[in-house]
Amino acid sequence: MEKNYHEKYLEIEGGFELQGSVSIAGAKNAVLPILAAALLTPHTLRLENVPQLRDTDAMVSALRELGAHIDEKTLDACLEIRMGEQPRELPPGAESAARNIRTGVLCLGPMLARFGWAQACLPGGCPIGTRPLDLHIWGLEKLGASIAYKGARIEAKGTLRPANIDLPFPSVGASENLIMAALGAKGSSRLRGVAREPEVVDLCRCLRAMGANIGGEGSAEIVVEGKKNICLHSAKHRLLPDRIEAGSYALAVAATGGSLLLRNAPPYEDLQLFLDQLKLCGIECSEERCELAQKPEKNQHSSSQNNLRITRSGELRAVSISTAPHPGFPTDLQAQFTAAMCFARNNGKQITIAENVFENRFMHIPELKRMGAEITLHGQAAQLTPRAKLHAAPVIASDLRASFSLIIAALAARGTTTITELQHLDRGYEKIEAKLAACGARIKRCKKNIASISHKNHSQADAAEVAQKKIVSLAS
Ligand code: UD1
Repeated sequence: MEKNYHEKYLEIEGGFELQGSVSIAGAKNAVLPILAAALLTPHTLRLENVPQLRDTDAMVSALRELGAHIDEKTLDACLEIRMGEQPRELPPGAESAARNIRTGVLCLGPMLARFGWAQACLPGGCPIGTRPLDLHIWGLEKLGASIAYKGARIEAKGTLRPANIDLPFPSVGASENLIMAALGAKGSSRLRGVAREPEVVDLCRCLRAMGANIGGEGSAEIVVEGKKNICLHSAKHRLLPDRIEAGSYALAVAATGGSLLLRNAPPYEDLQLFLDQLKLCGIECSEERCELAQKPEKNQHSSSQNNLRITRSGELRAVSISTAPHPGFPTDLQAQFTAAMCFARNNGKQITIAENVFENRFMHIPELKRMGAEITLHGQAAQLTPRAKLHAAPVIASDLRASFSLIIAALAARGTTTITELQHLDRGYEKIEAKLAACGARIKRCKKNIASISHKNHSQADAAEVAQKKIVSLAS
């Protein structure tokens, strides 16, 4: 008997301007912690503007493992989740599924707050550095939890008590975990040095809609009023638009030229520093509000839809950037910005791309070099000499944002580029080929046979082994 194994890849013919409009999905980095927040109530949490992503599916599966009831209504991007009773203990083998997602660990805070115990598997996610959990664990211990490691699992328990916590680095995930945990500590907890990212703000907004007493989100200090074994009420929450998806499409236009209307875009101020840099590059960025016919629902952000018009009509100018926690330049747009800068005017000058948030976030550089980019790496900084062009090549995506950076490079390069390892891309970009093709990109998802398996002879058995290894690496 013979079995065929296929690998999916993107084929992109470059050199065409982008023109048209793209609808921006709900934020990936907001939906994941907010799904974990549903553990804080026995009632239904209804989420709207939910992005259809592999990461959303993985988080939904992780919550189902714990016993949550989830009703997904794909047509209107809506999801209802209810964690009625005590969560179930994680089943054997849950660790392998957890490797696909990092945010499973965000269940620790809300579970501890409501039930006094929690379990999570050590996480996976993008391979962009060591990504330790020390700040999560240190903060939970300060709130009175005792932590034990059992193989690839973390177990936490204890009656939480309020605390004043000074985070030495504004970790997004640790801030979210500690905000949710502090809700289960009777009294007032003061969290300083917390992340100011819009997605942390969105989590707090959702928690408040569920009845939580929280203040200060968006600043570096958040105050949480907690209760022992907190039980919040039902709520409806519309997720904020994905600023990283919006920024990624804006950078695609910067590289190819043309004009895109980003519909349902995030508020300008959520992308302020990024858009300021784009303007320095010669890109026009303007906000276009349109009033919605219907009145906003309770808890909906506003009665108008925010649209962003991004246009490149002239040459692209090269600009250096340095990533930093919000409101700094987002690390999640660094790879895409680097790719766009390859197409800037060649005036013989180098620019610097400094990465200050993750220590291993330059895996797109060797791939861009295969396409003709002139880039050298010096520790946490890349020196790039713009050449106003790249050529097509077969390239490999190494992580989520690196995947989009290669798409940007391919859209503006001469020739037809192929991009493999699409499992990273599908974690965080919704309907990417459809959205880009609707704006004039020549992009298609293809499938190739990577091996045929038959047990009739040795060479085919070898092929089977190669295919099996490939499939394992695709799944991890
Ligand atoms: C979140 C985002 C991710 C984004 C990142 C930084 C989600 C689902 N993901 O990831 O897209 O790139 O913020 O904006 O929201 N760190 C520690 N100890 C810890 C935790 C973090 O040293 O306990 C370090 C990390 O290794 C990294 C830095 O802090 O160098 C930032 O990490 P963090 O803000 O926690 O990122 P995530 O929440 O994982």
